[in-house]
Amino acid sequence: MGPRKGLLPLLVRLVLFHGLFICMVSAKRHHQSFELRETPITRLCENKTILTINGQFPGPTLHARYGDTIVLNVTNRAKHNFTIHWHGVKQLRNPWGDGPEYITQCPIQPGATYGYEIVFTDEEGTLWWHAHSDWTRATVHGAIVIHPRIGKKYPFVKPLKEFTVILGEWWKSDVNDVLQEMLQTGGGPNNSDAFTINGQPGALYPCSKSDIFREKVFPGKTYLLRLINAAMNDELFFGIAQHRLKLVGMDGKYLKPFYTDYVMITPGQTMDLLIETNQTPNIYYMAAHAYSSGNVPFDNTTTTAILEYANITSSSSPSIPTLPTFNDTEAANNFTKKLKSLASEEHPAFCPQTINKHIYIAVSVKTKPCETASCVLANNRSLSASLNNISFVFPNISILQAYSQGINGVYDTRFPKRPPYYFNFTGDNLPETLLTPRRETQVKVLKFNSTVEIVYQGTSLVEGENHPLHLHGYSFYVVGWGTGNWDSVNHPRNYNLVDPPLINTVGVPRKGWVAIRFRANNPGVWFMHCHLERHLSWGMDTTLIVRNGKGPDAKMQPPPADLPPC
Ligand code: C2O
Ligand code: CU
Repeated sequence: MGPRKGLLPLLVRLVLFHGLFICMVSAKRHHQSFELRETPITRLCENKTILTINGQFPGPTLHARYGDTIVLNVTNRAKHNFTIHWHGVKQLRNPWGDGPEYITQCPIQPGATYGYEIVFTDEEGTLWWHAHSDWTRATVHGAIVIHPRIGKKYPFVKPLKEFTVILGEWWKSDVNDVLQEMLQTGGGPNNSDAFTINGQPGALYPCSKSDIFREKVFPGKTYLLRLINAAMNDELFFGIAQHRLKLVGMDGKYLKPFYTDYVMITPGQTMDLLIETNQTPNIYYMAAHAYSSGNVPFDNTTTTAILEYANITSSSSPSIPTLPTFNDTEAANNFTKKLKSLASEEHPAFCPQTINKHIYIAVSVKTKPCETASCVLANNRSLSASLNNISFVFPNISILQAYSQGINGVYDTRFPKRPPYYFNFTGDNLPETLLTPRRETQVKVLKFNSTVEIVYQGTSLVEGENHPLHLHGYSFYVVGWGTGNWDSVNHPRNYNLVDPPLINTVGVPRKGWVAIRFRANNPGVWFMHCHLERHLSWGMDTTLIVRNGKGPDAKMQPPPADLPPC
């Protein structure tokens, strides 16, 4: 027994040493670099040039482990200014790495490089990255997969294999021309020409039969499908013919699992789905099409991909999943109301029970007097959008730079904490005097560690529709939602404060409201906006500044040396 006594401490030391070593390595890992390129591509039988990362569309997947910090050099080898945002990564104390143009940095100019530091904390599951300048994100995006810590498991059966499904939106013309035309005419954008699954439109478009994504599977197994809605302007229904989906996670957090035939996913959201290959070996379509909540024109096409079983003996023609119809709000709501945090011992929910900062925000599409020669709306007006009647104007240096260096005149801190006028927000025939927003660069300042509740109130101005509101720097608990006007007395009584879902992008229902809660424990400058790109461009945005707290762990990091200059 003698020698063993010495062996154990040695083993402990070895494990400790290597544990430490692993810690040091995972504290800052360098990732293969990203290059913005102009890449020729053919889709729907037409050639065009798109912006990509490393020539790939969708772009490369970023793999991380729980709690990692990754340093990734991003170089601009194209002629177009851009930035990258790591959607859903909290970037604790590091707004410098967050990416939204003119909010936390100035763009990376042609020829320049910026080393993004991507700081993961408690995210686990699927997130994504995308360009955050004009409409470049249409083709510049990819998945982020965050694996559990070494030695930790998924809180569900281990899948045989994982694969990613990125839902995108495709225009035959250059997507930034679509944006420019929209701003010139003051109307809505041209509808897209296709939706895509992993960059391919699929079998149901003219001239696209072979442009289809295929995933080969074995029968009797479980697969993990990581679903991302990277579309620009559309909420989507998604499903797989004859296969139930088991939703186990969303926006980089686990959920209480449930089975469903379809999901409704808004732009910005991600979902982790288990699929059991328990059907007759055959070929099955996965498919997605729009969920249109209002009366706004939309792309009514369907994108498909193939789930193909191994060793098929006789194959019939693949069946298409029956998804809810385009305007099936009940189906969308029936799905959304099932979302709940896992709230287990290992993955607890920490929803703030008491609130010291209440914010109430009216979310509206609006109109404003035309500023170009060619507006298409009646009375020479153009479309606009606002939060609490403020249509956000981007400054020309970043808000983070102005804030950290104390530069005046770039933004003001008067973003209203409640709507400037109370009216029947969700009523019909609202007076035209409510239409024109103020155009300002206004931010909301929050004290470190305050417990915040934001109620987003949809309105029926111009045309009520769903708004996927996204907050940078945080995930938030969705404690309640409903139709009509929010009632500050009665609605909070029914909030779910036990196991509300913890997400980073929430759909504000058409002519309804949603309430979210979070603790403001991440100091920095954090963009908040609708993730429908046309609404972002019209000004449905604001910025939260969370002040530093006491002590070094409650303060923003200093700026990196290579931050792109303004
Ligand atoms: Cu998906 Cu402001 O971002
Ligand atoms: Cu919106």
